Amino acid sequence: MSIRFENGVFHLTNGRVSYMISLAGGKYPLHLYWGKKLRRVEDDLTMRLAGRDANDFNLHETPLDRLPQECPTFGMGDMREGMLHIRQEDGTTALDLQFVSHEVMKGKPVLPGLPSARGEMAETLILTLKDPENGIRVDLLYTIWEDTDTIARSARIYNEGKEAVTLEKALSVCVDFTEADYHLLTLSGGWARERAMELRPLVQGDQGTSTVRGASSVQTSPFMALLSPGTDENRGQVYAMALCYSGSFQGIVQVDQFRAARMMMGIQPFDFSWRIDPGTDFQTPEAYLTWSDQGLNGMSQQFHQLVREHIVSGPYAKTHRPILINNWEATYFDFNEDKLVDIADCARKRGIDLFVLDDGWFGHRDQDNSSLGDWKDDMRKLPGGLRGLSEKIHGSGMKFGLWVEPEMISPDSELYRAHPDWCIHAGDRTRIECRHQLVLDMTRADVRQYVTESISQALERGQVDYVKWDMNRNINMVGSALLPADRMKEFHHRYILGVYEVMRAITERFPRVLFESCAGGGGRFDLGMMCLMPQAWTSDDTDAWMRCRIQYATSLVFPPCCMGAHVSAVPNHQTGRSTPLATRAAVAMGGTYGYELDIRKLPEEELQEIEKLNQRVHAWQDVLLYGSFYRLQSPYQGNESAWMSVSQDGKRAVVTHVFAQSQPNARSDLLKLTGLDPAADYREEISGKTYGGDALMQYGIPVDAPWNDYKAQQFWLERVDR
Ligand code: DGJ
Repeated sequence: MSIRFENGVFHLTNGRVSYMISLAGGKYPLHLYWGKKLRRVEDDLTMRLAGRDANDFNLHETPLDRLPQECPTFGMGDMREGMLHIRQEDGTTALDLQFVSHEVMKGKPVLPGLPSARGEMAETLILTLKDPENGIRVDLLYTIWEDTDTIARSARIYNEGKEAVTLEKALSVCVDFTEADYHLLTLSGGWARERAMELRPLVQGDQGTSTVRGASSVQTSPFMALLSPGTDENRGQVYAMALCYSGSFQGIVQVDQFRAARMMMGIQPFDFSWRIDPGTDFQTPEAYLTWSDQGLNGMSQQFHQLVREHIVSGPYAKTHRPILINNWEATYFDFNEDKLVDIADCARKRGIDLFVLDDGWFGHRDQDNSSLGDWKDDMRKLPGGLRGLSEKIHGSGMKFGLWVEPEMISPDSELYRAHPDWCIHAGDRTRIECRHQLVLDMTRADVRQYVTESISQALERGQVDYVKWDMNRNINMVGSALLPADRMKEFHHRYILGVYEVMRAITERFPRVLFESCAGGGGRFDLGMMCLMPQAWTSDDTDAWMRCRIQYATSLVFPPCCMGAHVSAVPNHQTGRSTPLATRAAVAMGGTYGYELDIRKLPEEELQEIEKLNQRVHAWQDVLLYGSFYRLQSPYQGNESAWMSVSQDGKRAVVTHVFAQSQPNARSDLLKLTGLDPAADYREEISGKTYGGDALMQYGIPVDAPWNDYKAQQFWLERVDR
């Protein structure tokens, strides 16, 4: 791995990919190349494309408009949208960022206040640019890792001038492509149908994905990729970007008059600004660039490696995760201690490790219309409080987990009556509730302190082993009682920085606890959250077939160890669909496995099946959660879905295939596997049959055509040494 400066070009490479930056006239950083490793830099090809010699570059002769840039701004000749936009004290915005110096460091710097990837096995290039007129300095940070073909980018903007300036746009990354012959892949959806894959050809003008909701949201996802024509799961060039941020974001691809594509991502510029006083600075979130010439699976392999090795942390990052049972869909708000202990007992007898108490344990919350913010045990439901319940659960040998929604406040709460100005609100306007709740103003230090303390006390009382951190509404009416009017546009970003601060404080105070983030399902399923909590609830939709789609698309960026996935009751509470227990389990094995149903109501036959499933999950967890994951058949393209994981040592693999509607007179099919050793043999545990790795990949494994709907088949392969 190396970062070199040769022939006026910065070359970042890990031996497999190259990223190159040149300097026009020694001043303006141009995007020269990103893709498969190049052996060396011959010349400044970008400038040759523009018909100029790099050294002769002159702003007046070669407009920046025609050149691919690393950190474009508006006002110096480039007529496209820029990455940074800064209003100076006199109201003007032209920004002339010129290269000053560079530095290469081992590892990577920590980004103040923001979650970011760790810098093991990494090197970072810092390019320093400065506007000679106004003292604005920008450091562009580029990190390259040895073990993943991913490059992290962010920018830090310093005010070294004498007057305050206002940052009106601060994206994290810009990549200028010299052509636009790509399809844009984004993820979009809604509640209970998060992250559906959408593919469209690029056209001249703007396209992309963005949100203004104050969260990465169920509607969008901070990810986009450009795919060369004909790209599929295993072939084709993919250029992908994902943002390490949980608030409002923008991802945009602009195709210009010359059919050059500019791809940018960062904090949503709508309703954003940030005042930078002299001597202070602003750090953008980190964005990850992943390139692959092996299609979408190739891209995902790189993202998964980044997430597993450099994003998730804590004692559960790489170890066994407990099988949990959550009482939400079993009881909703209708529970008492006896009922919970009964459910937990029944679950424990069948090999479930962790009982999670969901919403409704505090204040007087019998519905979703009260008590958020009052994190005091409801003694009507739990006569011994959280402590009493947790002692019973722990006493039986199970772990105990708890649901909280720390960022929220119910108008019907002691907290609201005591502090009506602690919620986000706009002066005297009627406060718009959503799910009967308001959002706490996490930009305020007093609010952050209250949340940290009250939640920590609840976790201590409950002696919890696991926390589900929920967030069930978005921010609409922006306003804070403490922020001055001229800083109100800082609100959204300050809010999310406040959330990160509280999450960091609580996760650090409880270092042995397993944290799972959640946001009305998968409404904050992003890399920012994943830096703080190693798993997230993927969706409130637990229907097996819908989950095939949601998990399939989520796996574009996230490995199975990040995706909370539960077996729930049938008919399913979100779709009314009934699917076999084995299918629900097979799909839930595509993530961190658990249950969300009233286990007491299941027939003995199903309880026995659950016992066996749990043994299997425990025995194969290293493959299911931490193996190399491949998508095989897309539920977006038909009636089937299939995926597989191969253990890191290559010795074991699990293959899952799901049929949706059965077809009359269908023939059995062959499912081609991937990621195996062609020279090795594999024995399938259930059938006892042995197959060659080459045959499994070239010819395929037979999957039966079922005559009933929603049938899953799983294959448990072990390498056999001859
Ligand atoms: C939304 C979550 O996604 C659900 O799993 C559940 O915890 C409810 N909130 C509780 O209010």
